[in-house]
Amino acid sequence: MTVEPRIGDVFGEMLRDALAVATGIGPRPLAGGRLPRPVIEIIERDDGLINGAPAAHYLDGPADWQPYDRRAVDRVEGATLDVGVGAGRIALLLQERGVPVTGLDTSAGALAVCRRRGVRELVHGTVDSHVADGRRYDTFLLLGNNVGLLEGRERAPALLAALAALARPGARVIAQGTDPYGTRDPLHTGYHERNRRRGRLGGQLRLRLRYRELGTEWFDYLVCSPDELAELVRGTAWRLTDVDDHDAPYYLATLRLAG
Ligand SMILES: C[S@@+](CC[C@H](N)C(=O)[O-])C[C@H]1O[C@@H](n2cnc3c(N)ncnc32)[C@H](O)[C@@H]1O
Repeated sequence: MTVEPRIGDVFGEMLRDALAVATGIGPRPLAGGRLPRPVIEIIERDDGLINGAPAAHYLDGPADWQPYDRRAVDRVEGATLDVGVGAGRIALLLQERGVPVTGLDTSAGALAVCRRRGVRELVHGTVDSHVADGRRYDTFLLLGNNVGLLEGRERAPALLAALAALARPGARVIAQGTDPYGTRDPLHTGYHERNRRRGRLGGQLRLRLRYRELGTEWFDYLVCSPDELAELVRGTAWRLTDVDDHDAPYYLATLRLAG
């Protein structure tokens, strides 16, 4: 018998357990009922590829960050919305620096982890649903590869419009992405090619996350080149003003509100 995963808050449960393993506090997965097990994020792609990565890095402090994450927080100015705040690693540093930061996430469990770790301002929802709350921001962060939230050509204009609706004059988006096209691995180049044939961007990944018995619904997550990002931004309220690719294939893109 093959059982499909139960749909649930994969990210939240995974981060809760990763925090329990890191702190030794609270129930956590134990090998043989005794030894803490590392918590692994399982990412399934729709061509059958399965990847696993330790979830502990979502809790990392700045000393263990990639250099581009440190450069991203150094660029923050004014009231900041951390979009897809995860376990709050970025928001915690900004708070420490006295930056007024709000963490936004669709995962209730991720927000619970943020709260336990001391993130003060949290919003449960999407960028779109947050517009009605009346809050406005100077900086939007899309870190931890969250350029992905643009999803593809269909979703990107709506997400960028919702960010513009939340923006104060002169606001910026600082978004971290990964250029997927340096690979020669036929598994990936073939996937990119099949995507293009179906009218999708090459790195428009169709994914679901798994943790223990839980799964998410299938969703699109965009891994795109800076050129593709420039194309998605064209015609929106934003201008792509800078691409920092010192750590290529990873990059930080800065968008500024036009006008
Ligand atoms: C890859 S993690 C990045 C976490 C964090 N930014 C970091 O750098 O550690 C993606 C996060 O985005 C959240 N997320 C996914 N879709 C979202 C959406 N549409 N709106 C807001 N948050 C979302 C997930 O729940 C998760 O916490």
